[in-house]
Amino acid sequence: MEPGKTVCVTGASGYIGSHVIQILLQRGYTIHGTVQHLDDEAETKHLQCMDGAQDRLKLFQMDLLDYDSILAAVHGVSGVLHLASPLTIGAILDPERELIEPAVEGTINVLRAAKECGVKRVVVTSSVSSMVPNPGWPADVVIDEDCWLDLEYCKQNGIWYPLSKALAEKAAWEFAGENEVDVAVVNPGTVMGPIIPPAINASMGMVRQLLQGCSDHFTNFFIGPVHVKDVAMAHILLHENPAGAGRHLCIERICHWSDFAAKVAELYPEYKISSFPKDTQPGVLRAQDPAKKLIALGMHFTPMEQIIKDAVESLKSKGYI
Ligand SMILES: NC(=O)c1ccc[n+]([C@@H]2O[C@H](COP(=O)([O-])OP(=O)(O)OC[C@H]3O[C@@H](n4cnc5c(N)ncnc54)[C@H](OP(=O)(O)O)[C@@H]3O)[C@@H](O)[C@H]2O)c1
Repeated sequence: MEPGKTVCVTGASGYIGSHVIQILLQRGYTIHGTVQHLDDEAETKHLQCMDGAQDRLKLFQMDLLDYDSILAAVHGVSGVLHLASPLTIGAILDPERELIEPAVEGTINVLRAAKECGVKRVVVTSSVSSMVPNPGWPADVVIDEDCWLDLEYCKQNGIWYPLSKALAEKAAWEFAGENEVDVAVVNPGTVMGPIIPPAINASMGMVRQLLQGCSDHFTNFFIGPVHVKDVAMAHILLHENPAGAGRHLCIERICHWSDFAAKVAELYPEYKISSFPKDTQPGVLRAQDPAKKLIALGMHFTPMEQIIKDAVESLKSKGYI
C-alpha cells in the first residue's frame, strides 16, 4: 500500500496514537483520527499543531461503544490502525464496564465498520498483556506469538487489563475469520519514550513511579521494553506490508523488572531507584531480539538504554519528575 492514501487511526490523541499520527503525516498520509472529546484541547491541540495536520488530519469524535461514530471515521479510508482501548493498570471498580466492554465491543465495532466500508487491512493494537500471565507456558521456552494469557487465572486473580486485551484480540481474530477482514495484530510490551500529549499514560507512569522510588515490581506483567516510535512504526509497517500476518510481538528484549530498574539506576544514579530481587518475574526467560517476525519485515528496535534515556529525558522536560 502506497503512502498518500487515507487511513483511520483510532485513539489518535493517546500516547502511542500521537506518534502514529506524527509519522503518518511525515510519510504523506491523509488521516482520519479519532478522539473521545473534540471540544477538549487536551485531546486535539497536540495533534493539530503537527506539520501537515492542517491539510491532512481530520479529527472525529468517537466512542468505542457507538458504532455510528466509528463508521463516520472509517468511511472513505483504505486502512485502519485501531489503537483506542482503555488502559488502566490501577484499581478497577467495574472491570466489565471500564475495560472489557469498550475493548471487546469497540474492536468488533471497528472491524464491522471496516468490513462495511471495504477497508483493505485493519492493524489492531493488542499487547504482550494478551500473552501473559500464562503459568502453563513451558519454563524452558521463550515467550512468543504462540503464547496466550490464561483467562481463568486472570479472572481469579483480578488481572483485568490483560484480560481485556486478550478478549479483544480473540474477538478480532474470530470476527476476521468469520467475515474475511484482513487483520494484522501488534503486541507491544512496555511502551516508553517521548511524550507528545499533555497527559501522562500508564506505561510512562510506571517509569515515573520507578524514578520516584516505588518498589512495586508488577509480578504479573511481562517486561518487554519498546520505544514508542518503534511501536508506531510497527503499525505503519504492517499497514503498508501485506506480508505481515497474524500476531507480532513488538519488544526490544524480554527482561525482568529488576534488570530494567538496575539499568535505570545505572544511567540515572541521582534518583533513588529501589533495588529488586534478581528474578522479579519468576519463570519468564530473558531474551534478546525476540520480535523475530517484525525484524524479518525490516524493523530495527531501539536499544533499551536509549529507550530509557528518551523516556527519562521526556519525563524531566515535561516536569513529571
Ligand atoms: N502503553 C503501553 O505500554 C502499551 C503496551 C501494549 C499495548 N498498548 C495498547 O496501545 C493502545 C494505546 O495505548 P496508549 O499507551 O497510547 O494509551 P493512552 O494514551 O491511554 O491511549 C488510549 C487511547 O484510547 C482512547 N480511548 C480509550 N477509551 C476509549 C473509548 N471508550 N472510546 C474511544 N476512545 C477511547 C483514548 O482516548 P482519550 O485520549 O480521549 O482518553 C486514547 O486516545 C491501547 O490499545 C493499549 O492497550 C499500550
